[in-house]
Amino acid sequence: MTNSCYSLIYFNEFGEECHADFKVNEYHNLMELLFDKYVENWGECKGRAWCGTCHVELVKGSITENMDKDELLRLSKIGNRTENSRLACQIPVNAELNGSIIRILKDD
Ligand code: FES
Repeated sequence: MTNSCYSLIYFNEFGEECHADFKVNEYHNLMELLFDKYVENWGECKGRAWCGTCHVELVKGSITENMDKDELLRLSKIGNRTENSRLACQIPVNAELNGSIIRILKDD
C-alpha cells in the first residue's frame, strides 16, 4: 500500500479555488474528503446517491469508476448537471484523482 500524498484542486460554490491533499484510502470517497476540507452542508444521504447535495463537475482529469444506476438516476433529476457531472460520494479516493480539478455544483 502506498503512503504517497496526492492533491487535487476544487472550486467551491463561490468559485474560489481551493486545494485538498489526500492519501489513498484516507477517505471512502471524494464526498468525505471534500466534506473534511470544505465545511458545508452536503452529503445529506451519507453517500447513498439519493440526495444530490454532493454534486460536482469533473473539470480536468478522469475517473474510470463507472456510474451505477443509482448515481445515473439521481443525476438525471439535477437541473444544473453537465456532461461531466458526478456525485462525489460515488467517486473512490485513489491516485487517479491526483491533479484533478473539481467544481462543486450542488443540487439546485
Ligand atoms: S451524499 Fe447524497 S448523493 Fe452523495
